[in-house]
Amino acid sequence: MTRIGLIGGTFDPFHNGHRRLVEAVLISGQVDRVILMVAGQQPHKTKVKVSAAGYRFEMALRGVADLSQVEVSDLEIRRPGRSYTVDTLALLRGQLAPEDEIVLVYGSDVLFDLTTWRSPEIILSSADVLIAHRGGIGQQAAKDRAEQLRRDFSARIDFLNAPMLELSATEVREAAVRGELDTGKIPERVAALITRHDLYGYDEELARVDPAVWHQLADYECQVRPLLNHKRLLHSLNVMRYAMHLANKHGVSVEKAGIAGLMHDCAKCLEAHTVLHYARLAGDPELLEPALAHGPAGAWLARHQFGIEDPEILRAIHYHTTGSGDMSVLDLLIYVADKVEPARTYHNLEAIREAAETDLVQAMRLCLVEVEAFLERENKPSHPYAQAALEKLGIPTHHPPAPDKQETRLTLEQ
Ligand SMILES: [Fe+2]
Ligand SMILES: [Fe+2]
Repeated sequence: MTRIGLIGGTFDPFHNGHRRLVEAVLISGQVDRVILMVAGQQPHKTKVKVSAAGYRFEMALRGVADLSQVEVSDLEIRRPGRSYTVDTLALLRGQLAPEDEIVLVYGSDVLFDLTTWRSPEIILSSADVLIAHRGGIGQQAAKDRAEQLRRDFSARIDFLNAPMLELSATEVREAAVRGELDTGKIPERVAALITRHDLYGYDEELARVDPAVWHQLADYECQVRPLLNHKRLLHSLNVMRYAMHLANKHGVSVEKAGIAGLMHDCAKCLEAHTVLHYARLAGDPELLEPALAHGPAGAWLARHQFGIEDPEILRAIHYHTTGSGDMSVLDLLIYVADKVEPARTYHNLEAIREAAETDLVQAMRLCLVEVEAFLERENKPSHPYAQAALEKLGIPTHHPPAPDKQETRLTLEQ
């Protein structure tokens, strides 16, 4: 029999308060291991912008990377729609051995909220509860409330004999937005992740986006998550946020930019033969080469697997690897965001980012010049669609290489 401490949280960001709680629970000897459950879309937080689940999962993962008894679960964030504790418990129970015990770990404030949750009687009969005292809630009041829950629900409630490190997630997040990450409030590995992906960049601006759009994006993220590896998901989320920022600047639909950004590489991590199959179904014989086929394949998947019908979104996904001679503002924006999202590190990025703030065509021009220079160095031809984009923007193309070098066309796509 194993006792598993279940600590749920938004982890936006994962901070040292979470870390200390995990350590205290392990040291208490009341559990054998801990599962951190990254919260999905919470029923009571519908008006608050929460960072994308993929970011929060990565932060939690890094925050406990050195603790072998701790596992981070994506059980909730794999499921679209609202997450209820009672459902999560049932799913988790299905993954454990019948004799394993679940111990729900909460701050003492939860004692007073729990009866308003969905099916508290099922929650309290299927798990033990371990409570950490929180400031603002008197210890005696918490004990009295626990006693009441024991009487009313036969709840099995115990208290953790360790002080909680109380950090306000809002304050930690605000410090992160200001770039103040060396305050000892966030584990170093988490701070490095935040910096690398500029994870709270554009936060104030994006917080003004309609919550319904964020819920829709969260649902799409659930669907695309199983198709992508960690690195590709982070990249896709970065393109999503950056594209939304640019859409805001350039008067394009923030919603369409977010969806196209999130989905643009949805076919990228599939087996090569599968990508080719979907690309063929998309019906564009010019984009069947290995480095490029995930564009049309992704557009096909977005439409047929995720139900996205908007032709502008599908088009932006289709052409994101090459550009084309007839690019919409959304096409430009996705192409540019893909090349210079915050975690990209290659040459001349700052100039492109600066241009993108005011002049997307100029940003596109700079991107294409970089791609052309790269191809020329490699003695590779540029794709006909990229050439059409170059011609449209008045940029001379380099001479094509000898015929024997023409079998591999490349872009800067990674
Ligand atoms: Fe791509
Ligand atoms: Fe990409």
